[in-house]
Amino acid sequence: MAKVTITANENGPYLVPGIAKYTDADGNEQETQGKMVAICRCGASANMPFCDGGHKGINFKAAKIELVFDVD
Ligand code: FES
Repeated sequence: MAKVTITANENGPYLVPGIAKYTDADGNEQETQGKMVAICRCGASANMPFCDGGHKGINFKAAKIELVFDVD
């Protein structure tokens, strides 16, 4: 059983390890690049569901949280 950790950065996004496949607003299948996906949790991103740094502009405040999942 593998463990997956999702970290909610202090005053920032959820950081999810791995590459995400998703369908964009135009119905096109897409894939993220890199080793980590940053998911918005402040509501200010212009590129939902991903963080675009907009949390800095609204002075978003939230505690750091770590969620650890056991994945089959
Ligand atoms: S958490 Fe970064 S834009 Fe929302």
